[in-house]
Amino acid sequence: MFQIRTLLPIDYEFAVELANTMDWNMTVEDFQFIECLEQGGSFVLVEGLKRVGIATCISYGKIGWFGNLIVDKTYRKKGSGTMLVRHSLDYLHSRGVETIGLYAYPYLKEFYSRFGFISDIDFTLLHHEKLDLMETAGAHRINESNFLRIIDFDKQWFGGDRRKLLEPIVFEDSNVGYYLSERGHIVGYIAATIYESAAWIGPMICQPSRYDVAGKLISSVLAKSINKKVYVVASKMDTALYDMFLTLGFREGFYVSRMFMGKFAAPNCIYLAESLERG
Ligand SMILES: CC(C)(COP(=O)(O)OP(=O)(O)OC[C@H]1O[C@@H](n2cnc3c(N)ncnc32)[C@H](O)[C@@H]1OP(=O)(O)O)[C@@H](O)C(=O)NCCC(=O)NCCS
Repeated sequence: MFQIRTLLPIDYEFAVELANTMDWNMTVEDFQFIECLEQGGSFVLVEGLKRVGIATCISYGKIGWFGNLIVDKTYRKKGSGTMLVRHSLDYLHSRGVETIGLYAYPYLKEFYSRFGFISDIDFTLLHHEKLDLMETAGAHRINESNFLRIIDFDKQWFGGDRRKLLEPIVFEDSNVGYYLSERGHIVGYIAATIYESAAWIGPMICQPSRYDVAGKLISSVLAKSINKKVYVVASKMDTALYDMFLTLGFREGFYVSRMFMGKFAAPNCIYLAESLERG
């Protein structure tokens, strides 16, 4: 019989091993980070003493995100994936979340639609093997004095308060965060997590149609990512943004559908995901 319990530090190695059967490149630090952001929001599925599946959740007030759903191959098609999804949805609702988002592989859209998730738009994981020198573009660094304005701006478009996520990203010494403003109003911001040999660009939000702003913000973070492998999750439907990355030499990887359950509808803006498991 399957049972679900909270994912504990002793489960991190197991979680990494299981997640990476899907080439998700997860590390123990990733699960530690998720646990720091949402204590008790990650789950492990067990059958007897054997651990066979995982899922993670994060709540941002009325918006929550679901991710890292995976069940050991030999235990699939027995209702365990459904159990993990239901448990996670109950958890998020118990935290006051009204709308839940996720990124689904195309072949799982039908699976998620059974829980009430509705497809929104498709996103593609783009990557650049090694970035050459880039010019910086005069965006301002996010710092303590402007951070709360960035959080308010982000909330206006994302729908939830992502302070607990953005704070550790932006203020980690090796990472970067930039914004642009006009007449005292923020028109866009970007953050990037910079590792030794790779960089993950996102989140980014800019006002609709402000590709001039997006271009400057993207150049600013790419200038800090030279000689690294760079990843970004962008929507193919946003052709202007997408073409910007293709022109810079980014290549297409797999694509996923953003799905939502609940009444929130993502407003039209220029958007780069923070990650597939956290929105
Ligand atoms: C997605 C995933 C977690 C689903 O796990 P699962 O344990 O197979 O899920 P369930 O058993 O609840 O449901 C899967 C299917 O089995 C069917 N099923 C459920 N119980 C069943 C049973 N007792 N007997 C036969 N089939 C059953 C379900 O109806 C469902 O049918 P579908 O294939 O038409 O969708 C699993 O496929 C997986 O780990 N995939 C790889 C990782 C991944 O893609 N994660 C999602 C990222 S978006």
